[in-house]
Amino acid sequence: MFGWKKQKQSAGTRALPEHIAIIMDGNGRYAKQRNRPRVNGHYEGMQNVKRITRHASDIGIKYLTLYAFSTENWSRPKNEVSYLMKLPGDFLGAFLPELIEKNVKVVTIGNGDSLPGHTVKAVAEAVEKTRDNTGLTLVFALNYGGRDELVRGIREIAEEVSTGKLAIEDISQATVDRHLYTTHMPEPEMMIRTSGEYRLSNFLLWQSSYSELFFTDTFWPEFTADELDEMISQYQKRSRRFGGLDEEEV
Ligand code: FPP
Repeated sequence: MFGWKKQKQSAGTRALPEHIAIIMDGNGRYAKQRNRPRVNGHYEGMQNVKRITRHASDIGIKYLTLYAFSTENWSRPKNEVSYLMKLPGDFLGAFLPELIEKNVKVVTIGNGDSLPGHTVKAVAEAVEKTRDNTGLTLVFALNYGGRDELVRGIREIAEEVSTGKLAIEDISQATVDRHLYTTHMPEPEMMIRTSGEYRLSNFLLWQSSYSELFFTDTFWPEFTADELDEMISQYQKRSRRFGGLDEEEV
């Protein structure tokens, strides 16, 4: 499942990635460029989530994880936070029938406890209605933070140790994996960030240890299926060694 369990792969021969993670950045700047309010950028960003999800499903990607709201995004102006919290409901209200028709399964990662009731309700309905689907898994990271995820996992592990269910010497990387939101998912082979920023911003910190990173200056609302295809074809040419050597170097 994770990088250290993976076989070395030679460049040029690789299949499609199973899991693509995207930091959808640049909505605000997209709107500003057009003299529109920031929330319009988020609206257009949501429209692009539809296009990119359709495409990922059509080409046979198994997992698409989208950073929709981070644990740090609460510090934005109140109207922007409210708008972002409305988006999952708007998106799913309009798009759920197509997701179902496309056999897409919706799941979320992140701390659902502090989300507004209407957001939780919209997402729970989509999760429930798509739970048996077997195509693309569309993962919304909502109130997600990589450090928060690790702290929660560490607390659960400490609890298991303190109640005698787990011995300290039995704690392994697989133990940590079991206590993350993403347990049961493969690691993202590709991590994409749009809008010309070069940071992970607390996204999938543990899971992205061996991800191939892709950056583009394109703002998220304008990121196209063609640009995604181009990144995938670059990914297929990259050599992934997971700390080892290429076969020809051995
Ligand atoms: C970062 O752009 C983007 C976000 C904080 C929100 C991302 C959300 C979406 C793209 C829509 C999500 C859709 C669904 C269906 C949940 P920014 O606002 O930081 O842009 P800036 O850096 O240009 O200001």
